[in-house]
Amino acid sequence: MAALPDLPHWEQTPADLKDATRQIKAALRARIAASGRSADEVFAVIEHTIGAEAAGVAAARQRGETIWPVIDYADIEAGTVPAQAQQLLRRRGCLVVRGHFGRDQALAWDRELVDYVGRNRFFQNYRGPADDFFASVGGKPEIYPIYWSPPQMQARQSGRMARVQAFLNRQWRHESNGTRWFDPDRDSLYPDRIRRRPPGTTSAGLGPHLDPGALELWMTQEYQRAFRHLFDGTVERYDPWDAAHRTAGPQYPSSTMCSAFRTFQGWTALSDMAHDQGVLHTVPIPAAMAYLLLRPLLADVPDDDMCGVTVGRTFPVTEQWHAPLRQALTGLPDVRAGDSVWWHCDMIHSVAPVEDQQGWGNVMYIPAAPWCPRNERYAASVCAAFRTGSSPDDFPAEHYERDWPDRFPLAGLNEIGRRGLGLA
Ligand SMILES: [Fe+2]
Repeated sequence: MAALPDLPHWEQTPADLKDATRQIKAALRARIAASGRSADEVFAVIEHTIGAEAAGVAAARQRGETIWPVIDYADIEAGTVPAQAQQLLRRRGCLVVRGHFGRDQALAWDRELVDYVGRNRFFQNYRGPADDFFASVGGKPEIYPIYWSPPQMQARQSGRMARVQAFLNRQWRHESNGTRWFDPDRDSLYPDRIRRRPPGTTSAGLGPHLDPGALELWMTQEYQRAFRHLFDGTVERYDPWDAAHRTAGPQYPSSTMCSAFRTFQGWTALSDMAHDQGVLHTVPIPAAMAYLLLRPLLADVPDDDMCGVTVGRTFPVTEQWHAPLRQALTGLPDVRAGDSVWWHCDMIHSVAPVEDQQGWGNVMYIPAAPWCPRNERYAASVCAAFRTGSSPDDFPAEHYERDWPDRFPLAGLNEIGRRGLGLA
């Protein structure tokens, strides 16, 4: 194939977003056209395949079929996950791990978290939400900006967590062209918060969005390489499980950014949750990124607009531009305390609204963030935050735990914990 025209790129947030958007869209159209098909023709391929997959998911859901794959932790530990279950995981990009931790263990962790914040007078000192992505409930937060409790650290550095993360990481192609993009057997312990949503909660939920980035997905060189098949007219070869060029590049600074590369986002349930109580939904199609990244190139989108994607907020998935994808939004099945829930980092997700929630909705956010240049860089700042009980750099600088004497101690780290923080 003849050399295609280069793309302009911005390694930091462009000063003039509209101008950069016009430039990159023109360059992408020209590059795709040089491959022999127009951007419209290439998008038509994606619209057909992804649209059919989305319609299929919606139809199966309406027939009452279970959409989310479910795998028993025991099968992951024993290496006996049926081939069919693994195929479904790769097709859907999301998973419930049943019995990841014992139910009693998870419920004990939940009680311990309550005691931990109680002993340290968290609610008396709570200053209100430092970001506006999650509502607070009746003056008490739903998301606790707590990172260093014993239960969180015990779960992050447990062998059971490491085994599931390694299993999930290995769904990705992590080596190609002589480069090992990440180490599937070493996690970087990405610290995130907890959510405790009490019975009786009425919440508007969270609209469909994705978290791996926003304008940088089109505008930085490493992402342009990661999504090379979308941007050079060979969309049929696009593989959402290929980690090449995803694990080193920059992200534009933003209060919603995630510095880490995550193969999967995830959380561990600390309470039983019924499927109709405001739970997580996904569009269970990992390759939907192809649709999201090419849709702005069609003529009905203004030249300075990326279907509403901008800096400083998450990537929105809207009825106006992405309706065929949204029909596939599908909620979790019932989960029990100790189950964990995972979704491919590119996947569209939302949280359903709930009125007068029955039962608690409690989770610890723990993703799979394997060791790679990007995560190694962030791990250094995570380790410093751990030592001082500070909020990690990706989160608002609230630092509630700095003077809490009973947070998880350095001496409590095991081998997995030390490796995850870059200490071994
Ligand atoms: Fe999200």
